[in-house]
Amino acid sequence: MTNYINMNRLNWNERTAIHAKSDFYNIDDFLAEKSSLSGLDKTELGDVAGLSMLHLQCHFGKDSLSWARMGAHVLGVDFSENAIALAKSLNERLGLDARFLCSDIYDVAKELQGELFDIVYTSYGVLCWLQDLTRWAELISTSLKPGGTFYMAELHPLTFMYEVEDNQLKSKYPYFDNKVRRYESSTTYTGDNDKLEHSVTYQWQHTLGEIVSALAGSGLKLEFLHEFPFTVYNMFPGLMFQDELGRWRMKENEHLPLLFSVKATKH
Ligand SMILES: C[S@@+](CC[C@H](N)C(=O)[O-])C[C@H]1O[C@@H](n2cnc3c(N)ncnc32)[C@H](O)[C@@H]1O
Repeated sequence: MTNYINMNRLNWNERTAIHAKSDFYNIDDFLAEKSSLSGLDKTELGDVAGLSMLHLQCHFGKDSLSWARMGAHVLGVDFSENAIALAKSLNERLGLDARFLCSDIYDVAKELQGELFDIVYTSYGVLCWLQDLTRWAELISTSLKPGGTFYMAELHPLTFMYEVEDNQLKSKYPYFDNKVRRYESSTTYTGDNDKLEHSVTYQWQHTLGEIVSALAGSGLKLEFLHEFPFTVYNMFPGLMFQDELGRWRMKENEHLPLLFSVKATKH
């Protein structure tokens, strides 16, 4: 049987080096104080100074370290050894107090040994890598202190139905889909030409209803669910433009939802 997680981990380990030298992730600007956080996350989550934060699927830690710069005490988690090694070295270089843990998301609870957080945060390109949202939501709920906040900003599940073909948006995949999807791509989303040796990944589609219901079912109280017609990167090349705030919007189909955000509270 295919080991989806191992295949995905090999892919993410390989991507990390490409991302680290990409203009997309621009580590030099980041080291020179530029935050990697989107305005949306900062506005909607609000002040994090002095609060403890668990950052799920943190990649190589730019967002975790951006929150740490704003005074949060962050623990970033990701299953890619290479990403976590880079995150730790950036943390050291910046003299911040963030911690990083290499773990598959479904093993995080036992690694935490009961540690609780004021905030659980996750963002942009995370849910498609997870097969089981019930277990994901349970991890969030059991990692929060009473009164703690969960916040996520994520690519809208509707966007996973589409691909660009002949400079047009083509509907290629169903919105309702329980089957694992096998994708093959020799490059990554940063737009660099470097070829990936581990080019096959396995991903899952989750509808907005499934995502929100998993969170509600874990005992969290939903504060809001917002949807937006802009996103954080050029996800449909040739069909998008950047607005004055740097957000990517559709040239046509401008009412397509591209992002959503959720805030929820633990009681
Ligand atoms: C698109 S990235 C998140 C990106 C982040 N917003 C950023 O731009 O830095 C998705 C992350 O999920 C991680 N990931 C995928 N499957 C995982 C799993 N089963 N457990 C933990 N991390 C996982 C990958 O290693 C990758 O770093």
